[in-house]
Amino acid sequence: MTKRSNFPEGGTSWASLKAEMDSLREGDIDWKNGRAPLYVFYNDADTLEIGKRAFNEYFSENALGRKRAFLSVQKMERDVLDFGLDLFSAPDSGHGVFTSGGSESILLAMKAARDTWRARHDGDRGPLNLVMPISAHPAFDKASNLMDIEIRRAPLRDDYRVDVDALGELVDDRTLAIVGSAPCFPHGVVDDIEALSRLAMDKGLWMHVDACVGGWVAPFFAQNGRSTPDFDFRFSGVRSISADLHKFGFCPKPASTVFFRDGADHEPAIFVADAWPNGRFETPTLVGTRPAGSVASAWAVLNHLGTEGYRDVAGRLAGVVDAYVADIEAIDGLRMVATPDLSIINFTSDEVDMGLVADGMKARGWLPGMTQAPKGLHIMMSMFHGPAREDYIADLKEAVAEAREKAGRKAKTEAVY
Ligand SMILES: Cc1ncc(COP(=O)(O)O)c(C=O)c1O
Repeated sequence: MTKRSNFPEGGTSWASLKAEMDSLREGDIDWKNGRAPLYVFYNDADTLEIGKRAFNEYFSENALGRKRAFLSVQKMERDVLDFGLDLFSAPDSGHGVFTSGGSESILLAMKAARDTWRARHDGDRGPLNLVMPISAHPAFDKASNLMDIEIRRAPLRDDYRVDVDALGELVDDRTLAIVGSAPCFPHGVVDDIEALSRLAMDKGLWMHVDACVGGWVAPFFAQNGRSTPDFDFRFSGVRSISADLHKFGFCPKPASTVFFRDGADHEPAIFVADAWPNGRFETPTLVGTRPAGSVASAWAVLNHLGTEGYRDVAGRLAGVVDAYVADIEAIDGLRMVATPDLSIINFTSDEVDMGLVADGMKARGWLPGMTQAPKGLHIMMSMFHGPAREDYIADLKEAVAEAREKAGRKAKTEAVY
C-alpha cells in the first residue's frame, strides 16, 4: 500500500516545488512528442500561447459571478456561444451553455430531454429509456445512471455507423431521446445524422448529437472540401448538440458547450433554489464555481484562429490522418476498422493479436489506446502526432512482427480509456 502523505509543514519555495514537479513528471507519458493517443490536443505554438495568456489574465475570476461581478466574462461567454450557434446553423431561437466538459454538456442535454418528456406527459415520473448507438460515449451511461434512465444500445452497420433501422426498433413510447455521434469516439465515424433526424421527426423524439469530438472543427473539414458529414441544426430533428472546446477547438481545459435548438429546451436543466438564507441561487450548469480562465481563453483562441485558422488546422490535421492511414495500411496484416471521418483512427488485424501489438508499442514508450470491439489500436490525433509518425510506424512494424512471433501468448494490455 502506498504510504499516505502527511499534511505539509509549508514554506516550500517555488523553486523546490517546480523541481519536485519536474521529477514527478519523469514517469509521465511523453505527450508532447505524440506518445499519448488521447487526453491532450494541440494545434500550434501560437494557439497554445494565446490560450495560456488569456487563461492567466482571468486566472482568479469566477464565471459563476459573470452576471453580477465579471461582466467582461459574461460578454466573452456570450460571444463564444454566439460563435457556436452560428457555426452550427442554429435558428434564432437557439441557445448555448458554456460547461466544463463533454460529460457535463451531455448530462445537461439529457436532463433537459428527460424533464421535457415528463412535462409533455403530465409530470409522469415513471421509468424512461435512452436509445443510442453502442458506440456512444459512456458520458451517456453516466447521465443515465444519475437519472435512473435505462439505456438501449443499437448495433452498428458494416461501416461502423449506427444501424438507424435497428435503433428505431428500440424506441418506444417511453424513449426520452435518441443519440448520434459526430464522430463516435471508438471508430471515428459520424453516424447518419440525417436519417436519425428523420426518425426523430417521424416519431416526435428529442435527438441529441454528440459532437464533443468533432463539433468545433468538423465544419472546417467540410469547408475544405473533405467528405466529413454534416451533423448540425440544419437537420430539423436535431434538438441539442454537445461540442467540446477543449478537444478540437484547441482551447484550454476545462471547456465545452451544449446548444439547444430552442432556448426553452434548456430551461428544465437550469438549476434554481431559493430556500436557503442567501436567496435565489441559479446556475445554467451542473457546477457552481467554474474557471473564468476557460471562458476567456476560449474567446481568445476562437478570435485568434477564426475561420481561416480552423480551416488551416483542419487541412493540416487531415494531412496527418491521411499519412498515418496510408502507412498503417501498408503494414502487412493491419487494416483500418473504418475510414476516419475526422481525426480519430482505429485499426485492427485479422492475423495478429492487437493486444500483443499494444504490448509491443507500450514497451517502446507509446501509451496504447485500444478498442475492444473489434480489438484494435486507436488514436485521437492532433498536431502532436504529425512529427511522431515515422517513429510510430517504425515501432508499429516491429510490434506487429513481434506479435506474430508471440502468437498464442496472452496479451498484457487491455482496452481502458
Ligand atoms: C464522443 C465523446 N463524447 C463525450 C466525451 C466526454 O468528454 P469529457 O471527457 O470532456 O467529459 C468524449 C471524451 O472523449 C467523447 O469522445
